[in-house]
Amino acid sequence: MKKVGLIGWRGMVGSVLMGRMQEERDFDHIDPVFFTTSNVGGKGPDIGKDVPPLKDANSVDELKAMDVIITCQGGDYTKEVYPKLRAAGWTGYWIDAASALRMKDEAIIILDPVNKHVIQDGIAKGVKTYVGGNCTVSLMLMAIGGLFEAGLIEWITPMTYQAASGAGARNMRELIQQMGAVHAEVAHLVSDPASAILEIDRKVAEFIRSDEYPLEAWPVPLAGNLIPWIDVQLESGQSKEEWKAQVECNKILGRSANPVPIDGLCVRVGAMRCHSQALTIKMTKDVPLDEIHGIIAAHNQWVKVVPNDREITMKELTPAAVTGTLTVPVGRMRKLNMGPEYLTAFTVGDQLLWGAAEPLRRMLRILLE
Ligand code: HSE
Repeated sequence: MKKVGLIGWRGMVGSVLMGRMQEERDFDHIDPVFFTTSNVGGKGPDIGKDVPPLKDANSVDELKAMDVIITCQGGDYTKEVYPKLRAAGWTGYWIDAASALRMKDEAIIILDPVNKHVIQDGIAKGVKTYVGGNCTVSLMLMAIGGLFEAGLIEWITPMTYQAASGAGARNMRELIQQMGAVHAEVAHLVSDPASAILEIDRKVAEFIRSDEYPLEAWPVPLAGNLIPWIDVQLESGQSKEEWKAQVECNKILGRSANPVPIDGLCVRVGAMRCHSQALTIKMTKDVPLDEIHGIIAAHNQWVKVVPNDREITMKELTPAAVTGTLTVPVGRMRKLNMGPEYLTAFTVGDQLLWGAAEPLRRMLRILLE
């Protein structure tokens, strides 16, 4: 059995990955070795089989003994350890959740329901580095991969509504604190039917702008607000999150030399772990909506076409409905007034599952095939 080293398995993405690997019984097919940056020699996690004591995640010698390494430890760890390991002659498979290596020529971005052919070509050619994609990019491709595959997309403008989890566990906690603090500020007025709504609103607005509002993890308030900027600012005027859409999407599809233009605005909203996106798609030709539904639904087993119906949409096409599941619903599909080639759609997906952990464990399974 292949020796598989796991790093960063205690963090948020790592914990989701561990949960999925147990659900799918991945550990039955590998010899797992757990690494740590803080507790060398400690006891490994309970995964239903014996595992050796925790090994040092900074030891190139220990890491070199692995056939495969899966890391959710983050970009700084990757930048520190990966070059040393390769320089020491290690030729094992490196599977990474962090973005550090994504755009390197030696790396393939993994999302096998969309690009299994790219992955398999890579394995055949001896590529040893496989990196999970940006969450919004992966979730968009899970939703409308069928339209790409059918060559129906001329360009896309994705406008995102991204959840707190994309910024990390601390940010999720702080969002909840913010929600609670806003409510606490006006709880007595909210529960009094005789109170004036504009008075409540004024107090809430004052509180959100005050120093009392919990604000350590986020740069500015999120609960009762939104933040139309994610990640660093680039020369182009895009945020880095916006820049990733086109470059990563086309790299995943293996068409970086002939890219589909993709550009829009990325916005943080107060959802917990599901990213949502409103897409404007210019199609290469006028295709009837029912055919579009069929093409999208046939692409993979997780995408779900939601009819453009008010009740069903409100029930099924929301972060609250989707969170914790692998289903990627896509709905609100209709042709826009701009013409029959202009399609709009709305999609939601769990950014910790398809957006982070799931492609990693599936890559491992491909290596075991
Ligand atoms: N960059 C994403 C976000 C998460 O901030 O929501 C990771 O892909």
